[in-house]
Amino acid sequence: MKKLLSIALLATFAAAAQAEISLHHAITGEVLDMSFAKKGGNTEAFKEFMQTGKNPYNGNKEVVEQGKSLYMTGCSGCHGHEAEGKLGPGLADDYWTYPRNATDQGLFELLFGGANGMMGPQYVSFNTDEMLKIMAFIRDIYTGDPKKAKWLKP
Ligand code: HEC
Repeated sequence: MKKLLSIALLATFAAAAQAEISLHHAITGEVLDMSFAKKGGNTEAFKEFMQTGKNPYNGNKEVVEQGKSLYMTGCSGCHGHEAEGKLGPGLADDYWTYPRNATDQGLFELLFGGANGMMGPQYVSFNTDEMLKIMAFIRDIYTGDPKKAKWLKP
């Protein structure tokens, strides 16, 4: 019994040591309520993102293609087919209204929680894994200054 208890305690400490990043709304700064997340998005990639704040899908060509088709369904109507900007701003250049979008964590936070006006929270349309895929597509079509690509930095 005592042994079981110490194993349970050890497991608790191990879990606590793997602290997750904490996600905040791009505008209000409030902690994002992840209970709104659609089912099916808690994949290995998303778990890794929650540990590191980095998108493990970046540079994965197969995933970039999947992200592209998700982007075409859910984002291109407002941001343009090449993310050149339309009703919403361009997403392929290095100018960001919200500079934290140059990091994967910042971009995820903005997608999940939304921003102003027509940019509503994307959890209504996509699960968290799909958001990472869309993000990988956006990074892939980046045309801006490589020095400003903060998501590439360690
Ligand atoms: C109904 C139109 C609409 C849809 C659909 C939409 N957006 Fe937006 N998006 C906007 C508008 C308008 C803004 C500007 C909001 C602001 O400045 O607060 C914006 C802002 C953004 C920004 C911030 C850009 C910056 O310069 O910091 C990102 C990133 C973004 N959208 C990504 C996406 C992605 C990815 C999708 C699809 C999952 C999406 N949006 C779907 C209209 C839309």
